[in-house]
Amino acid sequence: MGESVSIPVQLAWFVATVLFITALRQLSSPVKARKGIWVAGAGMVLALGSMLFHPELTANHGLILIAVISGALLSIVHARRVDMTRMPQMIALYNGLGGLAAAGVATLVLLHVSRYGAAPKALATLGALIGCVAFAGSIFAFLRLNGFFNSEQGFAKRQVAYLANGALVMLLGLILATSSTAHPVLLLVFVALAMSFGVLMTLPTSAADMPVLISFYNALTGLAVAFDGFVIDNPAMVVAGTIVFAAGSLLTRLMARAVNRRLSEIMYSGFGMSTDEDGAQARKDHVNTIDSRDAAVDMAYARRVVIVPGYGMATAQAQHKLRELTQLLDERGVETSFAIHPVAGRMPGHMNVLLAEAGVPYEKIQDLSQINAEFSEVDVAMVVGANDIVNPAALVDSESPLFGMPILEVDNAKRVIVLKRGDGTGYAGVENPLLFAPVTRVLFGDARESVQDLIMSIKSLD
Ligand code: TAP
Repeated sequence: MGESVSIPVQLAWFVATVLFITALRQLSSPVKARKGIWVAGAGMVLALGSMLFHPELTANHGLILIAVISGALLSIVHARRVDMTRMPQMIALYNGLGGLAAAGVATLVLLHVSRYGAAPKALATLGALIGCVAFAGSIFAFLRLNGFFNSEQGFAKRQVAYLANGALVMLLGLILATSSTAHPVLLLVFVALAMSFGVLMTLPTSAADMPVLISFYNALTGLAVAFDGFVIDNPAMVVAGTIVFAAGSLLTRLMARAVNRRLSEIMYSGFGMSTDEDGAQARKDHVNTIDSRDAAVDMAYARRVVIVPGYGMATAQAQHKLRELTQLLDERGVETSFAIHPVAGRMPGHMNVLLAEAGVPYEKIQDLSQINAEFSEVDVAMVVGANDIVNPAALVDSESPLFGMPILEVDNAKRVIVLKRGDGTGYAGVENPLLFAPVTRVLFGDARESVQDLIMSIKSLD
């Protein structure tokens, strides 16, 4: 296939490849990430557009264009409407569709298997298998995050089904990869079994753990695309797929490590589903509370204030108010900054994206390693809708499911003010000793309303 590709098409693939690599570099910095998205988009348009000039493309160009344009329009409308808190669902859905496309390409190759040698057949079989697993797993994750199929299934039975399904899919894959003629029925069974394998992989994962698994499926989709690229001799697909695979694998590893868990644990446990009702009652009765006026005084007369946002900031959409609050404090000569934990919220970069959206300057953002050394010099650490990422049990309680997870050590600050609505225990569903610490005061209420009250109170001090 390679020889017949014209020089301009090859050149377009080369430029697309350079754009993908440049975009990845830009995406790793919150300042340049927005530009990186555009650069990656341009690379994709070029890679897709150049395929229309591929000499072996005999399909109807008009139909392809209609499909591409309608797909693009649909996703633009959807992406504009989706809430930040529903991002994991959106990523799961789009990743699933990517897996389906990769599986589709590989399946077509296996339907015309006589035209291909041993290596492309093996890669196409792997591409179909991985693409189907990524598709079914991601779509199932999407449905779970949307509240469908909430109950977790019997573990022992699932393991047997999992192993049987895995063995069968391997056997069929071996037959397909080594056969010189197409077997459409066998292929259909193979595809169905590969998809059920993806569902079985996702079945026991709790909704809260789903983002890590989705990142893993994202890596799998990349791998399937790279395999397809080898088979149909398309370097742009090889590069794009490899980049997605590498970035997805690293991200999965980072996310799993940041929550101190192995991917296998995430796929097999129901962590995050528990709620400790008795503990919750005790918490509300025993914490020291503060009202917005006293909290405002603490902050307005502080030398240094650090804000620690978490999932609750995202649900309350409090980021704009927080920006306003820090501006107000800055004007009073208080030094302010935001401390971001790598797994705060429910997706990688969740807090960075929201704070960037609110116009918080990048220089005001500090990461875990930087700020932990400085908390003892901080007068007020204000925790806004965060729980697990500031739970000291992660450092001292070997029984805690959070044990070993690095946290933002806010309890070293002179005063800690926690903004939360009520008895919520956060993602891990465990007690947080920070709430009972002598330095801590809890300001109950929705985070956005509480921050608004703080702004009003600080203004009234003048
Ligand atoms: P959480 O532990 O989920 O705590 C959220 C806190 O926000 C709760 O204490 C809740 O208490 C409060 N809250 C919720 N809505 C609120 C509102 N409208 N106003 C004020 N407070 C509100 O969040 P976190 O500390 O950000 O930790 C993230 C967790 O997610 C970690 O355990 C992490 O491992 C996990 N996780 C993260 C990711 C990524 S990549 N970010 C992926 C998978 C899992 P109330 O209900 O009482 O208000």
